[in-house]
Amino acid sequence: MVTKAENETLVRVGPGTDMGEYMRRYWHPVATSAQLPGPDCRPLRTKLLGERFVVFRDSAGKVGMLDELCMHRGASLALGRVEEGGITCLYHGWKFAVDGTILETPNHADCKYRERRKAPAYDVVERNGLIWAYIGPKEHKPPFRTFAADTVPPENRYVLRIDIKANYLQLWEGGLDSSHVSVLHTNQARTSWGIERGLPNDSSKWTPMDDPSPEFQVEDTPFGYHYAATRTLPPSRADDSQRNVRITPAIFPTGRIIRGPVSDFLVWETPSDDYSTSTYITVYSNNPVDKDWTLKTLGLNDTRFWREDDPEYKASWENNFFQDRSIMDQNWSGFKGIEQEDAAIGLSYGPIFDRSKENLVTADLAVVRVRRRLLQAAQLVKDGEAALGSQIADLTAVAAPDVDVPQGTDWRSVAPFHYEFTVAQAAE
Ligand code: FES
Ligand SMILES: [Fe+2]
Repeated sequence: MVTKAENETLVRVGPGTDMGEYMRRYWHPVATSAQLPGPDCRPLRTKLLGERFVVFRDSAGKVGMLDELCMHRGASLALGRVEEGGITCLYHGWKFAVDGTILETPNHADCKYRERRKAPAYDVVERNGLIWAYIGPKEHKPPFRTFAADTVPPENRYVLRIDIKANYLQLWEGGLDSSHVSVLHTNQARTSWGIERGLPNDSSKWTPMDDPSPEFQVEDTPFGYHYAATRTLPPSRADDSQRNVRITPAIFPTGRIIRGPVSDFLVWETPSDDYSTSTYITVYSNNPVDKDWTLKTLGLNDTRFWREDDPEYKASWENNFFQDRSIMDQNWSGFKGIEQEDAAIGLSYGPIFDRSKENLVTADLAVVRVRRRLLQAAQLVKDGEAALGSQIADLTAVAAPDVDVPQGTDWRSVAPFHYEFTVAQAAE
């Protein structure tokens, strides 16, 4: 059970808050590479953990992130000119390089002034379609981390961003809550519901989600925790000597890997501020990613909801999330796609939910754990310890196995590699 005070601690991510200070000990994605398509392109305004930044790509193709408001007198640099190796503030022409070096101050000729100061600039890494930044204390900068999604060739990967006006925890909890999958995502996951209604059975590739009462187990790991949902096999594969084990890792501070039928999804729920979140999804596989299939499955092929060139998610209570109740005899939710469903639920609470009002049951095990582990992790940082899992540079072993095993098999034996990691030395 979460108290009102604990809920407040969990959801507030601005500077000086417990969760905000904890989250500032990690690298976070702040944009997709596609949002900055070429040298000197239009700069991006972005928000991370309640602070405003400008992200831009200079003439050499290098990405930088500065405080959005110009260090001179605070005009937004996002209006600025990006050219000849820097971004120039429109107001008085101060020009900055990606590392914050002051290149020009036309209204102040003293070059010593430029040499002595720097604009607030942040460490940025661009890797495999995502731009990551570190905004925490320099002395606590952790190593940059690598995930399984980084190990596949570029054509086997597709990166997308969805901006949703809800607190990050609502969305992260949804992603870690296996018990909703066979209900909310009935049309994709619960084959029997469709078969009863004579629907074409095109979801047969999904795992055995028809079991109405899976068993859930959870255990902490060096990167956060992982949990298993153990289910009986569906009627089409009925074999009572076997069970299906589906493991989901929660990679702190905001990540998870979800196994899909043809690709995996590495998802980050990056808090822009207390009330809005940028969801970054890297879809990856051993085969080339079918982008059209992915967008259709997520329901993001409908431009009323989302467009690739504009990450803001457009369905809200104002348009009833574009829910189509007329199809609900054949479609459980009235939505056509997993992200349409997840986003509608995440937004339906309002931007911040008071968790002290819930009535939790055993099936909510993984959701209870994410809160407890976050509170613990934030406390550890307050006590002067490293942030949970932040020092593990190589997380490529973290995966989301989904396998059938003989009944009675210890679920942990499906992912023994989730317990063995090498802690890297913190970078200076
Ligand atoms: S406010 Fe940016 S140059 Fe003056
Ligand atoms: Fe979901």
